[in-house]
Amino acid sequence: MTEPRPITPTSSGPTRRQVLRGGAVIVAGAGAAASLSACAGGTESSGAGSGPRTLDEPQSVAKADVPVGGGVIEADSKLVVTQPVEGEFHAFSAVCPHQGCLVSLVRNDAIVCACHTSLFSPTDGTLISGPARTGLPAIKVAEDGDNLVVG
Ligand code: FES
Repeated sequence: MTEPRPITPTSSGPTRRQVLRGGAVIVAGAGAAASLSACAGGTESSGAGSGPRTLDEPQSVAKADVPVGGGVIEADSKLVVTQPVEGEFHAFSAVCPHQGCLVSLVRNDAIVCACHTSLFSPTDGTLISGPARTGLPAIKVAEDGDNLVVG
């Protein structure tokens, strides 16, 4: 079995973000390629379940950038924002708790870390299948007109 490879931006596609609806793949930021292919080599950390976290610097994300049944990965801020059903937004750390890769795609049924194929719920970040042993930590999301304030 071959190991899945992270999805990286190409010169033929959008440089800021790549989006595929229904099986959303979104890569954001100029450093996304390096970030997505780089594993930090860290150890398993605690996961979801302790309530949404806040960030020192909340991030603004346009609701229109978060597809229904998919999501957006903000590589620069290491966040993943999902919209499993219309009008329901969730945010999580995009850092996989297995070995620190950034998650690489959002499907309608899972947030995927392609480094070793861990799957996480797009609704609550919980672990669907490993090798990760914990979920993605939830990040607080608030709506502000056409935007989301994440963190
Ligand atoms: Fe190994 Fe994500 S880093 S599955």
